[in-house]
Amino acid sequence: MTDSPLSHTWTTRPATPDLASVLRRALHEGTLDDLPAAVFHDLGMMRAKVQTLQRLFPDGTLHAVAIKANPLIEVLGEIVALGAGLEAASMEEVHCALAAGCPPERIVYNSPAKRVDDLADALRLGLHINADTLDELDRIDTLLGSMDTTSTVCLRINPLVGSGAIAITSVANRTSKFGVLLESEQSIVDVFRRYSWLSGLHLHVGSQGCEVEMLVEAARIILDLRVRIHEATGRTQITTLNMGGGLPWAYRDETSPPSPENYVELLKREVPELFENDLTLITEFGRSVQAGCGWAASQVEYVKEDRDPHMAVIHLGADFLMRTAYHPDDWPHRLSVLNSEGEVKDGDLVPQTIVGPLCFSGDIIARSRLLPRIEPGDWIVIHDTGAYTLGMWTRHCSRGMPLVLGYGEGVVEAGFKTLRRRETPEDIAAFWSA
Ligand SMILES: Cc1ncc(COP(=O)(O)O)c(C=O)c1O
Repeated sequence: MTDSPLSHTWTTRPATPDLASVLRRALHEGTLDDLPAAVFHDLGMMRAKVQTLQRLFPDGTLHAVAIKANPLIEVLGEIVALGAGLEAASMEEVHCALAAGCPPERIVYNSPAKRVDDLADALRLGLHINADTLDELDRIDTLLGSMDTTSTVCLRINPLVGSGAIAITSVANRTSKFGVLLESEQSIVDVFRRYSWLSGLHLHVGSQGCEVEMLVEAARIILDLRVRIHEATGRTQITTLNMGGGLPWAYRDETSPPSPENYVELLKREVPELFENDLTLITEFGRSVQAGCGWAASQVEYVKEDRDPHMAVIHLGADFLMRTAYHPDDWPHRLSVLNSEGEVKDGDLVPQTIVGPLCFSGDIIARSRLLPRIEPGDWIVIHDTGAYTLGMWTRHCSRGMPLVLGYGEGVVEAGFKTLRRRETPEDIAAFWSA
Protein backbone atom coordinates (compact mmCIF):
# COMPACT_ATOMS: atom_id res chain seq x y z
CA MET A 1 0.00 0.00 0.00
CA THR A 2 1.40 3.41 -0.91
CA ASP A 3 1.93 6.10 1.69
CA SER A 4 -0.87 8.52 2.31
CA PRO A 5 -0.74 11.85 0.51
CA LEU A 6 1.02 14.50 2.55
CA SER A 7 -1.82 16.89 1.87
CA HIS A 8 -3.93 14.99 4.41
CA THR A 9 -2.95 16.07 7.88
CA TRP A 10 -5.16 15.26 10.83
CA THR A 11 -6.67 18.72 10.96
CA THR A 12 -7.25 19.16 7.22
CA ARG A 13 -10.79 20.13 6.41
CA PRO A 14 -11.55 19.79 2.73
CA ALA A 15 -12.23 23.11 1.06
CA THR A 16 -15.63 23.67 -0.52
CA PRO A 17 -14.21 23.95 -4.10
CA ASP A 18 -12.63 20.50 -3.67
CA LEU A 19 -15.90 18.95 -2.52
CA ALA A 20 -17.72 20.75 -5.33
CA SER A 21 -15.38 19.20 -7.86
CA VAL A 22 -16.04 15.72 -6.43
CA LEU A 23 -19.78 16.35 -6.70
CA ARG A 24 -19.43 17.59 -10.28
CA ARG A 25 -17.47 14.47 -11.14
CA ALA A 26 -20.25 12.30 -9.68
CA LEU A 27 -22.84 14.31 -11.63
CA HIS A 28 -20.90 14.12 -14.92
CA GLU A 29 -20.13 10.43 -14.57
CA GLY A 30 -23.82 9.75 -13.93
CA THR A 31 -22.98 8.13 -10.58
CA LEU A 32 -25.80 9.98 -8.87
CA ASP A 33 -28.30 8.80 -11.45
CA ASP A 34 -30.69 11.67 -10.71
CA LEU A 35 -30.72 10.98 -6.97
CA PRO A 36 -31.44 14.09 -4.90
CA ALA A 37 -28.92 13.31 -2.17
CA ALA A 38 -25.75 11.32 -1.56
CA VAL A 39 -23.17 10.85 1.15
CA PHE A 40 -19.42 10.87 0.40
CA HIS A 41 -16.46 9.48 2.34
CA ASP A 42 -12.83 10.30 1.57
CA LEU A 43 -11.12 6.97 2.16
CA GLY A 44 -7.69 8.46 1.38
CA MET A 45 -8.08 10.95 4.19
CA MET A 46 -9.32 8.26 6.55
CA ARG A 47 -6.33 6.10 5.72
CA ALA A 48 -3.95 8.99 6.43
CA LYS A 49 -5.56 9.50 9.83
CA VAL A 50 -5.28 5.88 10.88
CA GLN A 51 -1.65 5.89 9.73
CA THR A 52 -1.03 9.02 11.80
CA LEU A 53 -2.25 7.21 14.90
CA GLN A 54 -0.07 4.23 14.05
CA ARG A 55 2.95 6.50 13.70
CA LEU A 56 2.44 8.45 16.93
CA PHE A 57 1.60 5.73 19.43
CA PRO A 58 4.07 3.03 20.50
CA ASP A 59 4.50 0.00 18.24
CA GLY A 60 2.07 -2.70 19.22
CA THR A 61 -0.73 -0.26 20.12
CA LEU A 62 -4.08 -1.54 18.88
CA HIS A 63 -6.07 1.29 17.33
CA ALA A 64 -9.61 -0.07 17.47
CA VAL A 65 -11.63 2.52 15.54
CA ALA A 66 -15.14 2.90 16.97
CA ILE A 67 -17.61 1.19 14.64
CA LYS A 68 -20.52 3.25 15.99
CA ALA A 69 -18.96 6.35 14.45
CA ASN A 70 -19.28 4.85 10.97
CA PRO A 71 -20.47 1.26 10.62
CA LEU A 72 -20.25 0.89 6.83
CA ILE A 73 -18.59 -2.48 6.23
CA GLU A 74 -16.56 -1.13 3.31
CA VAL A 75 -15.22 1.65 5.52
CA LEU A 76 -14.39 -0.82 8.29
CA GLY A 77 -12.64 -3.06 5.75
CA GLU A 78 -10.30 -0.21 4.75
CA ILE A 79 -9.39 0.31 8.41
CA VAL A 80 -8.72 -3.39 8.91
CA ALA A 81 -6.54 -3.49 5.77
CA LEU A 82 -4.25 -0.95 7.47
CA GLY A 83 -3.62 -3.36 10.32
CA ALA A 84 -5.85 -1.43 12.73
CA GLY A 85 -8.73 -2.90 14.71
CA LEU A 86 -12.35 -2.08 15.48
CA GLU A 87 -14.26 -1.24 18.64
CA ALA A 88 -17.69 -2.86 18.77
CA ALA A 89 -20.40 -1.54 21.06
CA SER A 90 -22.70 -4.54 20.62
CA MET A 91 -22.58 -8.14 19.44
CA GLU A 92 -24.09 -6.86 16.19
CA GLU A 93 -21.10 -4.57 15.74
CA VAL A 94 -18.82 -7.52 16.47
CA HIS A 95 -20.48 -9.21 13.50
CA CYS A 96 -19.90 -6.09 11.39
CA ALA A 97 -16.21 -6.23 12.35
CA LEU A 98 -16.00 -9.89 11.36
CA ALA A 99 -17.83 -9.15 8.11
CA ALA A 100 -15.20 -6.50 7.40
CA GLY A 101 -12.49 -9.14 7.77
CA CYS A 102 -11.21 -8.01 11.16
CA PRO A 103 -9.29 -10.74 12.99
CA PRO A 104 -10.95 -11.36 16.39
CA GLU A 105 -7.78 -10.39 18.24
CA ARG A 106 -8.17 -6.88 16.83
CA ILE A 107 -11.80 -6.48 17.95
CA VAL A 108 -12.66 -4.75 21.22
CA TYR A 109 -16.08 -5.61 22.62
CA ASN A 110 -17.81 -2.98 24.73
CA SER A 111 -21.36 -2.91 25.96
CA PRO A 112 -22.97 -2.17 29.30
CA ALA A 113 -25.55 -4.93 28.73
CA LYS A 114 -23.62 -8.05 27.74
CA ARG A 115 -25.60 -11.23 28.31
CA VAL A 116 -23.91 -14.45 29.43
CA ASP A 117 -24.24 -15.80 25.89
CA ASP A 118 -22.58 -12.67 24.48
CA LEU A 119 -19.68 -13.05 26.90
CA ALA A 120 -19.35 -16.74 26.02
CA ASP A 121 -19.20 -15.85 22.30
CA ALA A 122 -16.66 -13.11 22.95
CA LEU A 123 -14.44 -15.46 24.98
CA ARG A 124 -14.76 -18.19 22.36
CA LEU A 125 -13.75 -15.75 19.61
CA GLY A 126 -10.88 -14.33 21.68
CA LEU A 127 -12.02 -10.69 21.57
CA HIS A 128 -10.70 -7.95 23.82
CA ILE A 129 -13.50 -7.51 26.34
CA ASN A 130 -14.12 -4.33 28.30
CA ALA A 131 -16.11 -5.39 31.35
CA ASP A 132 -18.44 -2.64 32.50
CA THR A 133 -19.28 -3.96 35.98
CA LEU A 134 -17.92 -6.19 38.71
CA ASP A 135 -20.88 -8.52 38.13
CA GLU A 136 -19.77 -8.96 34.55
CA LEU A 137 -16.39 -10.16 35.83
CA ASP A 138 -18.15 -12.79 37.95
CA ARG A 139 -20.00 -14.00 34.85
CA ILE A 140 -16.75 -14.20 32.91
CA ASP A 141 -15.11 -16.13 35.73
CA THR A 142 -17.94 -18.66 35.77
CA LEU A 143 -17.58 -19.12 32.00
CA LEU A 144 -13.82 -19.53 32.30
CA GLY A 145 -14.47 -22.48 34.63
CA SER A 146 -15.41 -24.52 31.56
CA MET A 147 -13.57 -22.93 28.64
CA ASP A 148 -10.19 -21.58 27.57
CA THR A 149 -9.80 -18.24 25.87
CA THR A 150 -7.23 -15.94 24.34
CA SER A 151 -9.34 -12.89 25.27
CA THR A 152 -7.90 -10.00 27.22
CA VAL A 153 -10.31 -8.59 29.78
CA CYS A 154 -10.11 -4.95 30.90
CA LEU A 155 -12.26 -3.45 33.65
CA ARG A 156 -13.84 -0.11 32.76
CA ILE A 157 -13.21 2.52 35.42
CA ASN A 158 -15.07 5.83 35.56
CA PRO A 159 -12.20 8.20 36.41
CA LEU A 160 -14.66 10.88 37.63
CA VAL A 161 -13.01 13.79 35.85
CA GLY A 162 -16.43 15.38 35.31
CA SER A 163 -18.43 16.46 32.27
CA GLY A 164 -17.17 18.21 29.20
CA ALA A 165 -19.09 20.85 27.26
CA ILE A 166 -21.80 18.41 26.10
CA ALA A 167 -23.61 16.67 28.94
CA ILE A 168 -25.19 13.79 27.03
CA THR A 169 -21.96 12.57 25.51
CA SER A 170 -19.89 12.95 28.71
CA VAL A 171 -19.36 9.69 30.58
CA ALA A 172 -16.84 10.47 33.32
CA ASN A 173 -19.28 12.23 35.63
CA ARG A 174 -20.97 10.76 38.66
CA THR A 175 -24.28 10.22 36.85
CA SER A 176 -22.79 8.26 33.94
CA LYS A 177 -24.04 4.71 33.61
CA PHE A 178 -20.64 3.37 32.53
CA GLY A 179 -17.90 1.57 34.39
CA VAL A 180 -17.00 1.18 38.04
CA LEU A 181 -16.61 4.43 39.97
CA LEU A 182 -13.01 5.24 40.80
CA GLU A 183 -13.91 5.67 44.46
CA SER A 184 -14.95 1.99 44.72
CA GLU A 185 -11.25 1.28 44.93
CA GLN A 186 -11.44 -1.48 47.52
CA SER A 187 -13.83 -3.50 45.34
CA ILE A 188 -11.60 -2.88 42.32
CA VAL A 189 -8.56 -4.15 44.19
CA ASP A 190 -10.55 -7.17 45.39
CA VAL A 191 -11.47 -8.27 41.86
CA PHE A 192 -7.88 -7.96 40.69
CA ARG A 193 -6.82 -10.06 43.69
CA ARG A 194 -9.52 -12.64 42.98
CA TYR A 195 -9.18 -12.90 39.19
CA SER A 196 -5.65 -13.47 37.96
CA TRP A 197 -6.93 -13.50 34.35
CA LEU A 198 -8.02 -9.85 34.70
CA SER A 199 -5.21 -7.98 32.99
CA GLY A 200 -6.33 -4.52 31.99
CA LEU A 201 -8.05 -1.25 32.73
CA HIS A 202 -10.32 0.69 30.39
CA LEU A 203 -11.43 4.30 30.46
CA HIS A 204 -13.42 6.56 28.17
CA VAL A 205 -14.20 10.15 29.12
CA GLY A 206 -16.71 11.23 26.51
CA SER A 207 -17.32 11.84 22.87
CA GLN A 208 -16.99 15.48 21.74
CA GLY A 209 -16.89 18.37 24.16
CA CYS A 210 -14.08 16.91 26.30
CA GLU A 211 -10.82 18.81 26.09
CA VAL A 212 -7.59 16.91 25.53
CA GLU A 213 -6.49 17.93 29.03
CA MET A 214 -9.44 15.97 30.47
CA LEU A 215 -8.44 12.86 28.53
CA VAL A 216 -4.88 13.20 29.82
CA GLU A 217 -6.04 13.78 33.41
CA ALA A 218 -8.15 10.62 33.22
CA ALA A 219 -5.19 8.60 31.93
CA ARG A 220 -3.06 9.93 34.82
CA ILE A 221 -5.74 8.89 37.33
CA ILE A 222 -6.03 5.38 35.90
CA LEU A 223 -2.25 4.88 35.79
CA ASP A 224 -2.03 5.91 39.46
CA LEU A 225 -4.80 3.43 40.24
CA ARG A 226 -2.78 0.75 38.45
CA VAL A 227 0.18 1.40 40.76
CA ARG A 228 -2.03 1.15 43.85
CA ILE A 229 -3.64 -2.09 42.60
CA HIS A 230 -0.22 -3.61 42.00
CA GLU A 231 0.93 -2.57 45.46
CA ALA A 232 -2.17 -4.02 47.07
CA THR A 233 -2.14 -7.33 45.19
CA GLY A 234 1.62 -7.76 45.11
CA ARG A 235 1.28 -8.70 41.40
CA THR A 236 2.03 -6.73 38.24
CA GLN A 237 -0.97 -8.08 36.42
CA ILE A 238 -2.24 -4.97 34.58
CA THR A 239 -0.51 -5.15 31.22
CA THR A 240 -3.19 -3.59 28.98
CA LEU A 241 -4.55 -0.08 29.11
CA ASN A 242 -7.48 0.78 26.91
CA MET A 243 -7.63 4.57 26.68
CA GLY A 244 -10.97 4.86 24.88
CA GLY A 245 -11.66 7.52 22.25
CA GLY A 246 -12.94 11.04 22.68
CA LEU A 247 -10.56 13.22 20.72
CA PRO A 248 -12.93 15.98 19.56
CA TRP A 249 -13.57 17.19 16.02
CA ALA A 250 -14.02 20.90 15.13
CA TYR A 251 -17.39 21.36 13.50
CA ARG A 252 -17.29 25.14 13.59
CA ASP A 253 -15.37 27.32 11.17
CA GLU A 254 -13.65 29.30 13.86
CA THR A 255 -12.16 26.36 15.73
CA SER A 256 -9.52 23.86 14.76
CA PRO A 257 -9.47 20.30 16.07
CA PRO A 258 -6.77 19.15 18.46
CA SER A 259 -4.38 16.83 16.70
CA PRO A 260 -3.24 13.49 18.05
CA GLU A 261 0.26 15.05 18.02
CA ASN A 262 -0.92 17.47 20.76
CA TYR A 263 -2.55 14.64 22.64
CA VAL A 264 0.46 12.32 22.52
CA GLU A 265 2.82 15.16 23.43
CA LEU A 266 0.75 15.95 26.50
CA LEU A 267 0.51 12.27 27.44
CA LYS A 268 4.28 11.89 27.15
CA ARG A 269 4.72 14.81 29.51
CA GLU A 270 2.02 13.98 32.06
CA VAL A 271 1.77 10.18 31.86
CA PRO A 272 5.16 8.97 30.59
CA GLU A 273 4.63 5.44 31.97
CA LEU A 274 2.13 4.91 29.14
CA PHE A 275 5.02 4.70 26.73
CA GLU A 276 7.03 2.16 28.71
CA ASN A 277 7.07 -1.32 27.33
CA ASP A 278 5.33 -3.15 30.18
CA LEU A 279 1.97 -1.84 28.90
CA THR A 280 0.08 -2.60 25.71
CA LEU A 281 -2.14 0.30 24.68
CA ILE A 282 -5.50 0.19 22.97
CA THR A 283 -7.29 3.26 21.62
CA GLU A 284 -10.89 3.58 20.47
CA PHE A 285 -11.03 6.79 18.44
CA GLY A 286 -14.10 7.26 16.27
CA ARG A 287 -15.23 10.80 15.62
CA SER A 288 -11.80 12.36 15.18
CA VAL A 289 -10.91 9.75 12.56
CA GLN A 290 -14.18 9.81 10.65
CA ALA A 291 -16.07 13.11 11.00
CA GLY A 292 -13.94 15.22 8.66
CA CYS A 293 -13.69 12.47 6.02
CA GLY A 294 -17.41 12.54 5.29
CA TRP A 295 -19.80 15.05 3.77
CA ALA A 296 -23.21 14.96 2.21
CA ALA A 297 -24.89 16.76 -0.65
CA SER A 298 -28.60 17.27 -1.12
CA GLN A 299 -30.43 19.07 -3.83
CA VAL A 300 -32.84 21.80 -2.77
CA GLU A 301 -36.37 20.70 -3.61
CA TYR A 302 -38.26 23.89 -2.71
CA VAL A 303 -37.60 27.31 -1.26
CA LYS A 304 -40.39 28.75 0.91
CA GLU A 305 -40.09 32.46 0.23
CA ASP A 306 -43.09 33.39 2.36
CA ARG A 307 -41.08 32.52 5.48
CA ASP A 308 -38.69 34.91 7.15
CA PRO A 309 -35.96 33.88 6.76
CA HIS A 310 -36.58 31.87 3.59
CA MET A 311 -36.62 28.11 4.12
CA ALA A 312 -34.86 25.68 1.81
CA VAL A 313 -36.30 22.15 1.87
CA ILE A 314 -33.69 19.42 1.28
CA HIS A 315 -33.61 15.62 1.35
CA LEU A 316 -31.52 15.06 4.47
CA GLY A 317 -32.76 16.16 7.86
CA ALA A 318 -33.13 14.79 11.35
CA ASP A 319 -33.01 11.26 9.94
CA PHE A 320 -29.32 11.88 9.11
CA LEU A 321 -28.46 14.59 11.66
CA MET A 322 -30.48 13.62 14.69
CA ARG A 323 -28.25 15.38 17.20
CA THR A 324 -28.16 18.57 15.13
CA ALA A 325 -31.96 18.69 15.02
CA TYR A 326 -32.40 18.16 18.76
CA HIS A 327 -29.33 20.02 20.08
CA PRO A 328 -28.40 22.46 17.30
CA ASP A 329 -25.95 24.48 19.39
CA ASP A 330 -23.89 21.43 20.34
CA TRP A 331 -23.83 19.86 16.87
CA PRO A 332 -23.54 22.56 14.20
CA HIS A 333 -22.44 21.59 10.69
CA ARG A 334 -20.80 23.92 8.20
CA LEU A 335 -22.82 24.30 5.01
CA SER A 336 -21.98 25.39 1.49
CA VAL A 337 -24.24 26.23 -1.43
CA LEU A 338 -23.55 25.03 -4.98
CA ASN A 339 -25.65 25.67 -8.04
CA SER A 340 -27.41 22.86 -9.92
CA GLU A 341 -24.21 22.22 -11.93
CA GLY A 342 -22.18 21.86 -8.74
CA GLU A 343 -20.43 25.23 -9.03
CA VAL A 344 -19.78 27.05 -5.74
CA LYS A 345 -22.23 29.93 -5.36
CA ASP A 346 -21.12 33.28 -4.10
CA GLY A 347 -22.85 36.63 -3.79
CA ASP A 348 -24.37 38.37 -0.82
CA LEU A 349 -24.91 36.27 2.26
CA VAL A 350 -28.46 36.26 3.55
CA PRO A 351 -29.96 34.45 6.54
CA GLN A 352 -31.74 31.27 5.45
CA THR A 353 -33.06 28.20 7.23
CA ILE A 354 -32.40 24.67 5.98
CA VAL A 355 -35.07 22.10 6.75
CA GLY A 356 -35.23 18.37 6.14
CA PRO A 357 -37.94 16.16 4.63
CA LEU A 358 -39.49 14.73 7.81
CA CYS A 359 -42.95 15.41 9.22
CA PHE A 360 -42.12 17.36 12.35
CA SER A 361 -41.30 21.00 12.92
CA GLY A 362 -37.98 20.31 14.58
CA ASP A 363 -36.57 18.82 11.39
CA ILE A 364 -34.19 21.76 10.93
CA ILE A 365 -30.49 21.41 10.29
CA ALA A 366 -29.56 25.11 10.27
CA ARG A 367 -31.49 28.12 11.51
CA SER A 368 -31.09 31.55 10.01
CA ARG A 369 -27.66 30.73 8.60
CA LEU A 370 -25.85 33.32 6.48
CA LEU A 371 -25.47 31.72 3.03
CA PRO A 372 -25.59 32.78 -0.62
CA ARG A 373 -29.19 33.01 -1.82
CA ILE A 374 -30.55 29.48 -2.30
CA GLU A 375 -32.76 28.44 -5.24
CA PRO A 376 -34.56 25.18 -6.02
CA GLY A 377 -32.17 22.79 -7.78
CA ASP A 378 -29.09 24.08 -5.92
CA TRP A 379 -27.00 21.63 -3.91
CA ILE A 380 -26.40 22.08 -0.20
CA VAL A 381 -23.14 20.53 0.99
CA ILE A 382 -23.19 19.49 4.63
CA HIS A 383 -19.62 19.25 5.91
CA ASP A 384 -18.08 16.91 8.50
CA THR A 385 -20.74 14.21 8.40
CA GLY A 386 -18.40 11.20 8.48
CA ALA A 387 -19.18 10.22 12.09
CA TYR A 388 -22.40 9.51 14.02
CA THR A 389 -24.75 10.30 11.13
CA LEU A 390 -25.57 7.20 9.09
CA GLY A 391 -24.88 5.18 12.24
CA MET A 392 -27.69 7.09 13.96
CA TRP A 393 -30.05 7.08 10.98
CA THR A 394 -33.68 7.16 12.10
CA ARG A 395 -36.68 5.58 10.45
CA HIS A 396 -39.04 8.46 11.17
CA CYS A 397 -41.15 8.87 8.01
CA SER A 398 -39.34 5.83 6.57
CA ARG A 399 -37.13 7.66 4.13
CA GLY A 400 -34.45 5.46 2.60
CA MET A 401 -30.78 5.87 3.44
CA PRO A 402 -28.97 7.67 0.64
CA LEU A 403 -26.31 6.25 -1.65
CA VAL A 404 -22.87 6.38 -0.02
CA LEU A 405 -19.83 6.83 -2.25
CA GLY A 406 -16.18 6.40 -1.38
CA TYR A 407 -13.32 8.14 -3.12
CA GLY A 408 -9.80 9.18 -2.26
CA GLU A 409 -6.28 9.39 -3.52
CA GLY A 410 -4.45 6.10 -3.39
CA VAL A 411 -7.55 4.13 -2.43
CA VAL A 412 -10.13 4.57 -5.19
CA GLU A 413 -8.15 5.08 -8.39
CA ALA A 414 -11.00 5.95 -10.74
CA GLY A 415 -14.64 6.79 -10.35
CA PHE A 416 -16.29 6.06 -7.02
CA LYS A 417 -16.61 3.01 -4.83
CA THR A 418 -20.15 2.29 -3.67
CA LEU A 419 -19.94 2.00 0.10
CA ARG A 420 -23.67 1.45 0.45
CA ARG A 421 -26.35 1.45 -2.19
CA ARG A 422 -29.33 3.69 -1.59
CA GLU A 423 -32.37 2.15 0.06
CA THR A 424 -35.36 1.91 -2.21
CA PRO A 425 -39.02 2.20 -1.15
CA GLU A 426 -39.17 -1.59 -1.60
CA ASP A 427 -36.29 -2.02 0.88
CA ILE A 428 -38.21 0.05 3.40
CA ALA A 429 -41.39 -1.94 2.96
CA ALA A 430 -39.31 -5.08 3.51
CA PHE A 431 -37.71 -3.51 6.60
CA TRP A 432 -41.10 -2.93 8.21
CA SER A 433 -42.44 -6.35 7.25
CA ALA A 434 -42.90 -9.20 9.68
C1 LIG B 1 -16.42 3.17 25.04
C2 LIG B 1 -16.27 4.09 23.89
N1 LIG B 1 -15.11 4.09 23.21
C3 LIG B 1 -14.91 4.88 22.15
C4 LIG B 1 -15.90 5.76 21.72
C5 LIG B 1 -15.61 6.65 20.54
O1 LIG B 1 -15.54 7.96 20.93
P1 LIG B 1 -15.15 9.10 19.86
O2 LIG B 1 -15.93 8.80 18.65
O3 LIG B 1 -15.52 10.37 20.50
O4 LIG B 1 -13.67 8.98 19.64
C6 LIG B 1 -17.11 5.82 22.40
C7 LIG B 1 -18.16 6.76 21.97
O5 LIG B 1 -19.21 6.89 22.48
C8 LIG B 1 -17.30 4.95 23.51
O6 LIG B 1 -18.46 4.96 24.18
